[in-house]
Amino acid sequence: MMQNTALRDDYEHSGTDLPDNRKPDLITVEEAKALDARTMADLFKEHINPGQFHFMKLLGFHKVKIETAEGMYYVDQNGRKILDFFGGFGSLAHGHNHPRVIAARQKFQEEGRHEIAIAFLSQYATALAKNLAACSPGELDMVFLGSSGSEAMEAAVKVAERASGRKNCKIVHAGNSFHGKTKGVLSITDSDLYQGDFKLVDNHIKVPFGDLDALTQVIEADPDIGVVVLETIQGGGGIISAPESYWKGVRALCDKHNVLWVADEVQCGYGRTGRFYAFEHYGVVPDVTALAKSLGAGKAAVGAMIAKRDVYMKAYGSPKTAMIHAQATFGGIGEASITAIEGLNVLYDEDLIENAAHVGAHLIARLKQLQEKYPKIIKDVRGEGLMVGLEFQDFSKTMPVVLRPMLSLLDDKLKGSLSGFIGAQLLRDYDILVAFTEYNRNVIRLEPPLVCNTENVDTFCDALDDLLSKGIVSIVNGFIKSQAA
Ligand SMILES: Cc1ncc(COP(=O)(O)O)c(C=O)c1O
Repeated sequence: MMQNTALRDDYEHSGTDLPDNRKPDLITVEEAKALDARTMADLFKEHINPGQFHFMKLLGFHKVKIETAEGMYYVDQNGRKILDFFGGFGSLAHGHNHPRVIAARQKFQEEGRHEIAIAFLSQYATALAKNLAACSPGELDMVFLGSSGSEAMEAAVKVAERASGRKNCKIVHAGNSFHGKTKGVLSITDSDLYQGDFKLVDNHIKVPFGDLDALTQVIEADPDIGVVVLETIQGGGGIISAPESYWKGVRALCDKHNVLWVADEVQCGYGRTGRFYAFEHYGVVPDVTALAKSLGAGKAAVGAMIAKRDVYMKAYGSPKTAMIHAQATFGGIGEASITAIEGLNVLYDEDLIENAAHVGAHLIARLKQLQEKYPKIIKDVRGEGLMVGLEFQDFSKTMPVVLRPMLSLLDDKLKGSLSGFIGAQLLRDYDILVAFTEYNRNVIRLEPPLVCNTENVDTFCDALDDLLSKGIVSIVNGFIKSQAA
């Protein structure tokens, strides 16, 4: 304060206009915590994304203010516990606020540790890189640390492109793919909506996911193709997998034509499918891979690209090339790195990968029983471990004539999609949160924390059973009534 007054005096004596650096009307941390749902809604509309608010309102999510979270549950402003089968699209492997992760972070803060890992070597970043190499099969040894899945995937595509040795390197990607929204990886994300009218990188070729013949054809026809980028299990596309023969074929094809295979494991990796990487189910190892989401143990933003050492060395191995794609400002930052280190230790100490396989099998078995019970409502149940897709029948055409006019009043995005109605009612009436799928509105994605147990699965499946037993007409009616309320 004293200092500020002295500075002000100096300005005044020098005859210069006083710059208006007075503190604006800022919300404090305590005030932020105390904001109510209505104020949050106003601020979201005014300062974040009014269009997105429209969807949150449609689903009834705008009325919920989360106060705390622990394990499998959120707790809202009314003390209601919400069972989390959404799991931040796979970002919460350890559950909310895992005590060991919290303790590691608190200790790190109390010890006054440093954060930025640019000037000096960082014991935290180097240890995390070593741990990731230890979790990765084959020669996947070299690690680039960043702070999101998109950043990890950008790094993955760039290292592969350089190491491919092609001057005009072209990249193959899959239909229905999602690799992020930054401009490079947006170019290989198969969504007209997300691509908008942006000017994108144009050196890419799309093939259908899981179609080895199509991939073979394009690679054989064009020697400029140097990189193939594929999610091992497509998440945004609605939990789509390909058989082992496909992955073995991808590996063999890439080896034959000296093409590098990048496996995007941002959503399906980190133990979610019952193996650390989903590609480990198929007995193959890619040249480059990427992780993010749960790597931050639900408390930090961490992404990582992991490349085979020879691939990395070809791209950035000399002092001359080393800085072409070296870590950015927040890459390997201290507290994020130790959070990820503790998270990896917890993942193995608590057998969360085994648990994902075991509990996931129970979830899929119970959902298949529901599919048999409600064949007119549930079209498909699929997935691996705790990465599960529940696809509903497209009911827009089978809808009773009486409901059609009401349905037409609803938002375009929800027409014909039961998942919106079911998700909204699971939250409202059963205190359960599930995730929607942008590319296929009929699919609910279930990616609960890997600490999920069979009782949690039974709670979810019993709730779904109860809701579906009411029938489609009642479900849609219930949703429409909630809109009027
Ligand atoms: C497979 C895949 N790759 C990349 C990304 C991008 O990750 P982020 O949202 O952290 O940038 C996502 C995000 O959902 C993803 O699912």
